Parts: sequence; structure tokens; C-alpha cells
Amino acid sequence: MERKTPLISAEDLRRQAEISDYIKSFWEGQGKTPLAYVETYGCQQNEADSEQLRGMLERCGYGLTDGPEDADVIVINTCAIREHAEQRVFGNVGALVHTKRRHPGQKIFVCGCMMGQPEVAERMKKSYVHVDGVFNPHHLWQFPELLYRVLIRHKKAAATENSDGAIAEGLPVVRTNRLKAWVSIMYGCNNFCTYCIVPYVRGRERSRLPEDILAECRELIAQGYKEITLLGQNVNSYGKDLGLGVDFADLLASIAKLDGEFVLRFMTSHPRDASRKLFDVMAAHPKIAHQFHLPFQSGNDRVLKAMNRHYDRAQYLSLIEYGRKVMPDIVFTSDVIVGFPGETAEEFEDTLTLIEQVRFDALFTFIFSPRPGTPAARMDDPTPKAEKNARFDRLVALQNRISEEKHRDYIGRTLRVLVDGTDGDQLTARTDGGRLVRMQGDKELIGKFISATITDATTWSLVAEIGA
Ligand code: SAH
Ligand code: SF4
Ligand code: F3S
Repeated sequence: MERKTPLISAEDLRRQAEISDYIKSFWEGQGKTPLAYVETYGCQQNEADSEQLRGMLERCGYGLTDGPEDADVIVINTCAIREHAEQRVFGNVGALVHTKRRHPGQKIFVCGCMMGQPEVAERMKKSYVHVDGVFNPHHLWQFPELLYRVLIRHKKAAATENSDGAIAEGLPVVRTNRLKAWVSIMYGCNNFCTYCIVPYVRGRERSRLPEDILAECRELIAQGYKEITLLGQNVNSYGKDLGLGVDFADLLASIAKLDGEFVLRFMTSHPRDASRKLFDVMAAHPKIAHQFHLPFQSGNDRVLKAMNRHYDRAQYLSLIEYGRKVMPDIVFTSDVIVGFPGETAEEFEDTLTLIEQVRFDALFTFIFSPRPGTPAARMDDPTPKAEKNARFDRLVALQNRISEEKHRDYIGRTLRVLVDGTDGDQLTARTDGGRLVRMQGDKELIGKFISATITDATTWSLVAEIGA
């Protein structure tokens, strides 16, 4: 099979690099180092995109600042997954009017998934006149050219045409954390779950080449990164578009074989495509964390079908069972939606029983939010908001009890953890399963894998003492 995904050509990328150099010399001519502020909403994919935006900004001569007030350019990288996320963005972008008044030369860009919806991008352009440029995720790599148009040509810039998607390799990147790195292995999504906006705003599934991903991971390890998280909306369908006979499990195994001390994670997995082979690879390679984020969304088969999820409750449970068989210490986490259109009280009970049955370590819980243009937004939704809120509260209470019980089970165990930072006067660390650990200790330990014995637990974290 021939590769379908177009790569952005080296020549196009070189042009962006030249424009970046031009902007840099423009600022040098002004005798100042300009500052840039990038604000990120949404998922890790967006965090990874923001790291590339920061990379491009740095190449354009900008220093980075952590607030909008003193910034010469502001980039707001948005998320469209739920209405609440969008409202926050509109509110915060609106408030930048005042910031810009105090700093008239300031340039403001809005990008990300919200700008992948043409009507939302239009609203941003029309009603937020202090915004200088908008672009959707397909145009991320063209940011230098858009910045040039705004900064040097004093024009507004917009790049919001939709596309099935391409891949830009080798964009500059400034990573936020020096121990933990995100690596996108694929972009887009083909699943069209009926509630979800992602396939509309991020285009079709497309995979990076294994050798490009491996080269990036090798370099990260050489630079001293201790944790690599592979990112994709549905990592289990990695490689299907490449036709190379390399699937996600193969890719994971080849990264896990690289030399060096690091822990390898990935997200997100779709239960339809999660294979037993993948669990076997995880069990076989010590560098792959025994952590699995496997969103189930609902415990009821009718609702799962209406969501277009392509698996049923029994299939989901059998995946969990297999994972636990080959890795007894595996940590499962998940996403769930409450109040999908037409979800009845009984159907919701199935979600609760699934949670009781699986006993996830942690759960990300969402109330259904209709997204314009998706099939679920057009479905009958007779359940009152108050009823949905009550279901949501029950679900959260149930999960909090389970999380705390599961965390208490850790007490007395000695685990390997990666010390990753501080919180107040304590060190923070993560277990291989991704659980947060706090303990007293020397800051010198940050960046090291150490042995820790768990002494106490809460719903959200574990308390430990260093050593066995
Ligand atoms: N690609 C990932 C998840 C992306 S979005 C996956 O398929 O698992 C993260 C989570 O947001 C989803 O798992 C889902 O639980 C939730 N979500 C997505 N669209 C939503 C909507 N319209 N309303 C409420 N929650 C939603
Ligand atoms: Fe959205 Fe479903 Fe794709 Fe996840 S798999 S991004 S929930 S359409
Ligand atoms: Fe949001 Fe886009 Fe991620 S919609 S959840 S930022 S892919």
C-alpha cells in the first residue's frame, strides 16, 4: 500500500525557517529581545503543539514569558472538546483587549482545535477585533509566515482552510519539562465517535514514519529525558496508513529496546483497536510502564452503539481481564461520559457497575456536551440537566471511594518511582503506573529513579519514604 499522507516538503519548511530568521533580524534591528506567551487548553496533543509553537517563536528571536502582560506576541492554543472549554477561551481572549491596550504593539494569535470549526473561527475574526491572526491545527507549521504578515506587513492573518491533514517533520521545539517529553506518533482520528469534534478539527489519521519517531526518541534519551509519552488520539491504529507492516505494538517494542534508562508511556488507546499483542509487548519490555488509559465512555451496550464505539461491554471487560492476566500490577485509567443523549437511569447504572467491576485507579469524568456538527448534537436529549448532574455526582463519589481504596492497597509496598519535581517542601514522583507520590527528600534526587516505600494514601496521591 502506498503512503497516503503528504509530507510538508523540505522546501516549504525551509521557507518558514527563512522567514523566522528574517523576523529574528527584524527584532535585532530594534535592539530588543521580544517576549512571547503561549497559553494552552485541552489535551497533551495540544501541549505538544504548543511546544512546537514555542520552538518556532524561539527561532524567530523571541524569549518566553509566563503571562500575557509583558508579551509582544500572545498565542492562545484552544480546545473544542466541550462547550465549557470554548467558553473559557472566549472569555480569556476577550479579556486580552485590556492587556493589548496597555501594550499597543502586542500581537495576538488564536489557534488550535476551536479554529478548526469554520463558524467559530469566523466569530473570532469578526467579534474579537484585537485578535491579529487565527489558524487551525493543519496550519501550525506556517506560523512564522502568519507572524510575518501581522508583525512586518501590519495585516491580519488567517489560515483556517480545512484539510485531511499532512505531516510536518523537524519543526523546532522547546519542551516545557526537562525530564518528560511528549512525542506525537500520529495525528487526527478516523473514528467519528458520535459525540466527538476531534475528527472534524484534526483531520484524518496519519502516522509519522517509525524511523522519524525512533530518531526523536533516541535524541531525547541522549539529552537525558527519563520519560517519553507517545501521543495519538488512537495510538492503536498507528501505522495503518503507512502500509509498512509496522503496527503500534511493533513501534512500542522498537522504542523500548533503545539503550538508556527511561520509562515509556502512551495515550490514548481505543478499546476497539487495543490488541492482545500490545499487552504482550508491554509485559515483555521492562521499559514500558504498566499503565493503560483505556476510555470506556459507557458501560451500556445500547449507548456504546449510539456513540459509534464499535465494542461492547463484554469485549471491554475481556481486554481488562487479559491485561491483568499478563501484568498483574497494571494500572488502568479511563474516560467516561455521563448523560449521553437518551441515556436512561438504568443505562447509567450499567456505567456504575462497570466501574465497580473494573476498579480503575483513576477516571476522567465528563458530562455530555453537544458539539455543533456532530451526530450526537442532533439526537433527542430529554434528560434534564439536574438529573445529569446528579448522575455525575454519584459517579464521582463512587470513583473517589475506589481510588482511595486502591491507593490504600499500596501502603507497605516498595516501588520504583521517578522523582520529577517539588510541591512545597516535598518531592513529587510518579510510579510506573503513573500514580502521584509525595515524600521528603533531597532535591538532588529530581530526575532519578529511586525505590520508595508507600506509607500513606489519599484519593489523589500516595505518601512515601525513600528506600526499601
Ligand atoms: N481520543 C481519545 C479521547 C479524546 S477526548 C479517545 O478516543 O479516547 C477525551 C475525552 O473527552 C473522551 O474520551 C471523552 O470521554 C470526552 N469527550 C469527548 N467529546 C465529548 C463531548 N462532546 N462531551 C463530553 N465529553 C466528551
Ligand atoms: Fe474522539 Fe472517538 Fe476519535 Fe477519541 S476515538 S478522538 S473520542 S472520535
Ligand atoms: Fe481538545 Fe483538540 Fe485535544 S479538541 S482535547 S485540544 S485534540
